[in-house]
Amino acid sequence: MMSMEEALTRAAVRLREAKHVVALTGAGISRESGLPTFREAQSGLWAQYRPEDLATPEAFARDPGLVWRWYAWRRSLVNAAVPNAAHRALVDLEAAVPRFSMVTQNVDGLHQRAGSPEVIELHGNITRVRCARCGRYVTAEGLPDEGPAECEDCGGLLRPDVIWFGEVLPREALEKASEAAGDCDAFLVIGTSGVVYPAAGLTDIALRTGAAVISINPDASSAPPGAMQLTGSAAEILPRLVEAARGKPSPPSS
Ligand code: OAD
Repeated sequence: MMSMEEALTRAAVRLREAKHVVALTGAGISRESGLPTFREAQSGLWAQYRPEDLATPEAFARDPGLVWRWYAWRRSLVNAAVPNAAHRALVDLEAAVPRFSMVTQNVDGLHQRAGSPEVIELHGNITRVRCARCGRYVTAEGLPDEGPAECEDCGGLLRPDVIWFGEVLPREALEKASEAAGDCDAFLVIGTSGVVYPAAGLTDIALRTGAAVISINPDASSAPPGAMQLTGSAAEILPRLVEAARGKPSPPSS
């Protein structure tokens, strides 16, 4: 089996040679910022619910107060979190390659806070709130933890500006991401279980395009078939990979 050093070097060579690099991230990249991954997000009070029972239009229609409280709790975690070394490494990589597309399934805004200039958000952003009836956007700052709050314009219920199960992804974001995946020569897939479509389909597009698909995930079984695997945490591996791709020596692994 290939050693980690060897796998890292091979992946770095592909990144260095690439004209267009795409990064697709999932909840795992924010794990070391202290945010639970989507499938872990059920701790304490929320352990009795499955995300699939809270992140749906049906759940909001059935019990808007419950869904509101769950998002208020997740928003408080996001507000308290800071970007980690993996988010920052992607900013450095973007500066080092001819073209870069940053695509995320995350709703936490940590890529933007790390300094990524343009982020394609496939699943929305938890820090934004909009009216479920008229679509008016409202800043999430200062909203009550108990809710849902009502729209000042039309009296409709306010909801997080995220994509729920069963909802259609924002067309422009998906188009941009698909175009990037079909055009790139290296595709990083970081911290995602790769089970939620259509986001997971971007990796398939990249593989069909002949791009080098590089998976960074502590769980080897999350890596898509056909990917180069770097098994470990994103905050540990990505900075080393990016340094190697920029031709700088990586620090000795401990
Ligand atoms: P998941 O919670 O499904 O998967 C998180 C992935 O991160 C797993 O593969 C973990 O092995 C990996 N992981 C854990 N710690 C990590 C670390 N330190 N470094 C790197 N990887 C790590 O989250 P997503 O794949 O993002 O969609 O979930 C995809 C979508 O499912 C979410 O955007 C959400 C959910 O349904 C919607 O809300 C529409």
